[in-house]
Amino acid sequence: MNTISPELINEIRSSVDIVDVISSYIELSPKGRNFFGVCPFHDDTHPSMSVSKEKQIYTCFSCHATGNVFKFLMDYENISFIEAVKKCADMANIKLDVKVNSFDNVNNKYKELYDIYDQSCKFYQNLINTKDGLEAKEYLHNRGIDENLIKEFKIGLSLKERDLLTKFLIKNKHSKEDIIKCGLILDNNYGVSDIYSNRIMFPLEDLTGKVVGFSGRIYNTIDNSKYINTKETEIFKKRELMYNYHRAKDDARTKGYVIVMEGFMDVIRAYSVGIKNCVATMGTAITSNHANILKRMAKNIYLCFDGDSAGLKATLSCIEELDKVGVIPQIIRLEDNLDPDEYIIKYGKDKFLEKIDNAMDIMDFKMAYLKQTKDITKIEDKTSYVEEVLKELSNFDNEIKKEITLKKLSFDSGLDIEFLKDELSKIAIKKEPKKEEEKKVEIRKTGLEKAEIYLLYYMLKNKDIIRMYEKKLGFMPDSEYRILAREITSYYKDNNSFELADFLTYLSSYPNILDTLSKVLSSNLKDEYKIDDIEGYIHKINNAILDDKIDKLKHKLDETTDVDKQAEILSQMRDLKNKKIES
Ligand code: UTP
Ligand code: MN
Repeated sequence: MNTISPELINEIRSSVDIVDVISSYIELSPKGRNFFGVCPFHDDTHPSMSVSKEKQIYTCFSCHATGNVFKFLMDYENISFIEAVKKCADMANIKLDVKVNSFDNVNNKYKELYDIYDQSCKFYQNLINTKDGLEAKEYLHNRGIDENLIKEFKIGLSLKERDLLTKFLIKNKHSKEDIIKCGLILDNNYGVSDIYSNRIMFPLEDLTGKVVGFSGRIYNTIDNSKYINTKETEIFKKRELMYNYHRAKDDARTKGYVIVMEGFMDVIRAYSVGIKNCVATMGTAITSNHANILKRMAKNIYLCFDGDSAGLKATLSCIEELDKVGVIPQIIRLEDNLDPDEYIIKYGKDKFLEKIDNAMDIMDFKMAYLKQTKDITKIEDKTSYVEEVLKELSNFDNEIKKEITLKKLSFDSGLDIEFLKDELSKIAIKKEPKKEEEKKVEIRKTGLEKAEIYLLYYMLKNKDIIRMYEKKLGFMPDSEYRILAREITSYYKDNNSFELADFLTYLSSYPNILDTLSKVLSSNLKDEYKIDDIEGYIHKINNAILDDKIDKLKHKLDETTDVDKQAEILSQMRDLKNKKIES
């Protein structure tokens, strides 16, 4: 088990500057005392994320993402807490003797599933190294996948006998139900048997590198399914899986680009020639989930799908999905219906890299696509070609690009450029005026809630206010704020100091409290405060607490007929009312 003392964690945290770290991922510009950038944790193009050098935290005013440098790294890179701490320690040249493993963050609920996949993966890996694996090895070697790659991508083998994995897992104390849940064995009238037989096993790893399933490929037989993928489970969702993500992400960041491919074989091939910044989906279209992951991987995204018509369609739908998250990719098209794997084998690494250098922008790609699907020597086709390109163009903001494209269109169609401009402006007029961005309806907070939030905000800012809260209130009417206030005061007492960024580390295992904290921090108050205002919040909260007590007494009063009791309650009520005036 990895343990790093809280003191060391805090030391590491304060040895790096959150502004430096975040600005190596997203562009930040200074504004006043803070830095601002486009928040990577929700779809946005406005700079709604503020990073405070002074507090060493970030807060998004739109999606309320909040945290310190560790939280940023964990969420941005999909890594565990320990990995984030290790990363910062490396940046700060602090030697940290911990072994980082991808199981650090495993939710206990799924631990059994991860264990089963992990052990199955090792089981299949062992088999490929026996003499039963010689033929599979030969197949892989023929495809240029050498021993190093087999090891790196943890490629294994399932044998013909259909009970080997089942027996192995049962012997290792896994229950039949769990193994069935994993989609690795089948339970039918004839008993249980392995799902995979006689296939080369490619483990599928999640974003953190843990095995969450397999894709098994035929290699010496003929079968309708070339690949069989494990069924989806709670930990394997195709729409979230990005093959090779955890190996590719660092390289993608340093190189500034990532290449998206259709098949994982393509990714392995590219990796084999040293192009390590490639990822693939599991034969599904790109989802919004993928789009968001890609957006965070690198500034430039290249789509390099297969050269066939399915690849063309996949490219178009991927462009659309990326557009929704504000990303404009570049397109690499491969000739002769080749996929990247075949292309690299046939033409080599350098030719493939040249392709990247000469990637198409999406407008060129769309024009090429439209031209390919039409016969523009025919008047009908030419008309619809011109119409469709103009329609695409009407979404363009960049005037220079518009002009360049119009020139190309004029060349393709033989139509005068002035005429095309005219047509384009007609489309622009016809188009509905852009709806004003819907203003987010801020749920109106009551005066009391505001007072609670504001007081908490300044408690996070200043130790004196924490002490004031303790002395004068020690309680808040709303439970979520009360819990946060309690955590703040006890953290302060335990540590004899209060550093917000370290408090965030402490809160990382309490997501609900963290949510409340985000809400408080994104209320965007001025950092300076007047003590009168603070007194005002305390006054308001105090009165609310008293009102609540008075209310309860009123109920009690209504319920009793005992005259003595009534007199006592009335006296208590009077006391409370007097306190209200005093405070
Ligand atoms: P491809 O058919 O393009 O595979 O499918 P490939 O990458 O060229 O593989 P090789 O070179 O023939 O070995 C692309 C992706 O679609 C999914 C897989 O995820 C594959 O990587 N697929 C394909 C399946 O799930 N099942 C299949 O039968 C075929
Ligand atoms: Mn292929």
